[in-house]
Amino acid sequence: MKHGEWIAILDYGSQVTQLIARRIREQKVYCEIIRFDTRAADLARRAPKGIVLSGGPASVTDQGSPLCDPALFELGIPILGICYGMQLTARTLGGKVHRGLKREYGKASMQITQDCPLFRGLEKNLQVWMSHGDKVEVIPDGFETIAESDNCPCAAMQNAGRKIYGVQFHPEVVHTPQGAQMLGNFASEICGCSGDWKMSKFIEDNIQSIRAKVGSDHVLLGLSGGVDSSVVAALLHKAIGPQLHCVFVDNGLLRYNEAREVEDLFGHAFGIDLHTAHAQDLFLNALSGITDPEKKRKIIGKTFIDVFAEKARSLSGKVKYLAQGTLYPDVIESVSPIGGPSATIKSHHNVGGLPADLKFELIEPLRELFKDEVRAVGRELGLPGYVVDRQPFPGPGLAVRILGDITRERVNLLQLADLRVREEILKMENHLDVWQYFAVLLPIQTVGVMGDDRTYENVVAVRAVQSLDGMTADWYKLPYDVLDRISSRIINEVKGVNRVVYDISSKPPSTIEWE
Ligand code: XMP
Repeated sequence: MKHGEWIAILDYGSQVTQLIARRIREQKVYCEIIRFDTRAADLARRAPKGIVLSGGPASVTDQGSPLCDPALFELGIPILGICYGMQLTARTLGGKVHRGLKREYGKASMQITQDCPLFRGLEKNLQVWMSHGDKVEVIPDGFETIAESDNCPCAAMQNAGRKIYGVQFHPEVVHTPQGAQMLGNFASEICGCSGDWKMSKFIEDNIQSIRAKVGSDHVLLGLSGGVDSSVVAALLHKAIGPQLHCVFVDNGLLRYNEAREVEDLFGHAFGIDLHTAHAQDLFLNALSGITDPEKKRKIIGKTFIDVFAEKARSLSGKVKYLAQGTLYPDVIESVSPIGGPSATIKSHHNVGGLPADLKFELIEPLRELFKDEVRAVGRELGLPGYVVDRQPFPGPGLAVRILGDITRERVNLLQLADLRVREEILKMENHLDVWQYFAVLLPIQTVGVMGDDRTYENVVAVRAVQSLDGMTADWYKLPYDVLDRISSRIINEVKGVNRVVYDISSKPPSTIEWE
């Protein structure tokens, strides 16, 4: 899609490159992470207002370390080098980088020694976050040192005339409390960005480009009810109305009432052409007698493709495009010199592996957005809070939360228990702090008493975790009274459960899901 003003971030493989993009977008400036070896001439054609060279794990003193096109520095476009990016700037422009023997890692206090628009509005003494081995020993001609720290005589440098800057610390992380302001200063004071990138504008621009691309053709979307596909549905509906056709596979493994909610919202309230595949029996039959978690996942993945393909085939005469809810973090991984962490949270809803007779061109309207931006777009498009703030839900659904045999009765039981967990946690004011919460049905029975009778019934485990990205997680310290209400409601209201336990394990070494 075409954007007005933007900033290019060349990625040298730092684990926190994405945070640079987040911080700049928080200033309402659009930015993109691109390959570290992008040619200056190619970049110039796209006319960014500024260039950031990210940090990275390599050492510029090593042979084969990722370099930039030196002509970048001749474009007249402002440049900010961060950590490795600063060392690369120094080396490329004739300075000297010293190979450090010891890494400096952690908080450092830094003194600003020269005026610089990067530091406008900030105190002279700042806390910054350092994470580097090498340091700039001799700055290039035309540069001056503008900040120093105990361990780092040149913590920042500038060539104000050429608008080239370097910082040894990481302004993008929270441990540099004024870092966001520095990146904001770079964007506004140095690059002259006006900061007018808003979700409403993103929607407007995106709608124009979707219409231009799709023309009078038709688009197919696999709607799962999750945040990403819901937002794609709402956006495409706004752009092309009746040319959008959604397929929703009800696999019988969704949360309580979820299938009805999806149909009510998208089919009725939005009036989208929604085709529901009522495939509960098909899935449950295919899963009958299967207890191995990997087998369950494979069966569900394959059955999903079969069902989706059949529905798609019935529409394929008129459909040219397949829409997907790919997000920016999935896209970024392909530009890093070292490859990012592998995409772990991807399910069969990303309809890869469609049979060969179904050929569609892809349309991915969210591929430039981070998750919180997707939620903002969803809100702007009028999707309700329960959709845009929805927690992650595994593609195989409740199947990964029913240990042992999956039967209709066990699915119903888990749905009812899970509903109690969700209802009670939703009553907490800070429920959005809990990344995920749900019930798990265990494959064991335990003894209990009910009146004068002994019972021998199911155990439900409650899981609630705090996490930033699902890669690591801590068990959530739910208040005792919330746990108490969850437990007594499940035991009193859900027939077949006589014991509730709370999962107090963190990831790693445990995982969030039980299977
Ligand atoms: P784990 O259990 O690996 O889960 O700690 C990490 C995150 O991924 C979600 N998850 C899945 N999502 N398909 C998905 O779309 C899956 O098969 C799947 N398995 C786990 C899980 O809910 C958590 O948010």
